[in-house]
Amino acid sequence: MTSAALATPVPANSARITPTGVCVPLPDGREAYFNAYWLRDNCPTSFDRQTRERVFDIFHASAAPRAASAHVHDGALEVVWAGENHTSRYPLDWLASYAAPKPRHDPADLPRHAWYADHFADLGRFAFADLMNDPARVAAWLRALIVEGMAIVTDMPDNDDALVQLVAKMGHVRPTFFGQYFDVLTHAVPTNLAYTAKALELHTDTPAEDLAPGIQFLHCRANTTTGGESLFLDGVAVANDFRVSNPEQFRLLSETAIPFYCEHDDYDMRSRQTVIELDAHGEVAGLTISQHMADVFDLPQQFLDAYYPAFCAFGRLLQDPKYVMRFRMNAGECLVFDNHRVVHGRAAYDAASGARHLHGCYADRGEMRSRYRALVSESRFK
Ligand code: OGA
Ligand code: ZN
Repeated sequence: MTSAALATPVPANSARITPTGVCVPLPDGREAYFNAYWLRDNCPTSFDRQTRERVFDIFHASAAPRAASAHVHDGALEVVWAGENHTSRYPLDWLASYAAPKPRHDPADLPRHAWYADHFADLGRFAFADLMNDPARVAAWLRALIVEGMAIVTDMPDNDDALVQLVAKMGHVRPTFFGQYFDVLTHAVPTNLAYTAKALELHTDTPAEDLAPGIQFLHCRANTTTGGESLFLDGVAVANDFRVSNPEQFRLLSETAIPFYCEHDDYDMRSRQTVIELDAHGEVAGLTISQHMADVFDLPQQFLDAYYPAFCAFGRLLQDPKYVMRFRMNAGECLVFDNHRVVHGRAAYDAASGARHLHGCYADRGEMRSRYRALVSESRFK
């Protein structure tokens, strides 16, 4: 249906049956067309009140749904269906919300707020105990994660269970091939750069997964070593600036999937991802970037004549001090951030100078948005 479906004013109670649907006068005086399949499929009785799932099965309708009569009564469209003993009643306000050709309003589809190196003082900070006790604080925390992609949870108890409890406020732990939880510590025999005291270049985590985990949690349990400062930047801010300054290179990075890997004795993870991710609106949603896990580019060599300069120009821009927040994580803080948007890293540290331990895990972005909607919105089933 197009906006042309909205036509001239019609008398308030007349609905018109057409060969394929019904034209309905809306509360604003205009007329909108609704397809008969759509109306029949979405009769309020199609939905089970208890499970809130659709129980009507349109695949088993013996003939195309057709209205035998249709009229507006008491703020609702009433349709008697031909060939079946069924009447449907649709509130006009509800119909009006589907008359315009736009997706259903989504409270979690919030505009992203890009941030820069000076953002640290303004980062959303949420005390662990408040999140445990106050759903409004949880909603504010999730909102910060949707809008800014990052927030700090403070005053975390110094035990493993604190992270379990925190993730539960957003959803479930999303395991990766490392398992449910991970600990960033120096290992005697490291299989991963994170498990050394070396610097970790700016990256997003586990790019070699088909779908890298959405939300990352890093609960700092100890950080008394020399060095090891945290580096965080907003990939959306960088990519938006790059789109303006280097549009053709932006196109290459948002359209070309490059290979990522993570390999050791008993695993060989591989995926292809675009460095810049766009959302359904064509806006920058985030990044996938990791020099230590980018595989050897198996793209045509002539294509690399254009791709590599774009990749490097973007990689250099990511390191521009204009974007990178640099700070020290403190024991008792948990950094929570969108792993598809926030690019992070750490400076090298001196493992002999003290203790450094981060306990971490991931959760899913879709489930986080679901929890946010459930906290803030009115369900049509309530
Ligand atoms: C990682 C990581 C950050 C740090 O393990 O992937 O980014 O500060 N660690 O050690
Ligand atoms: Zn990381």
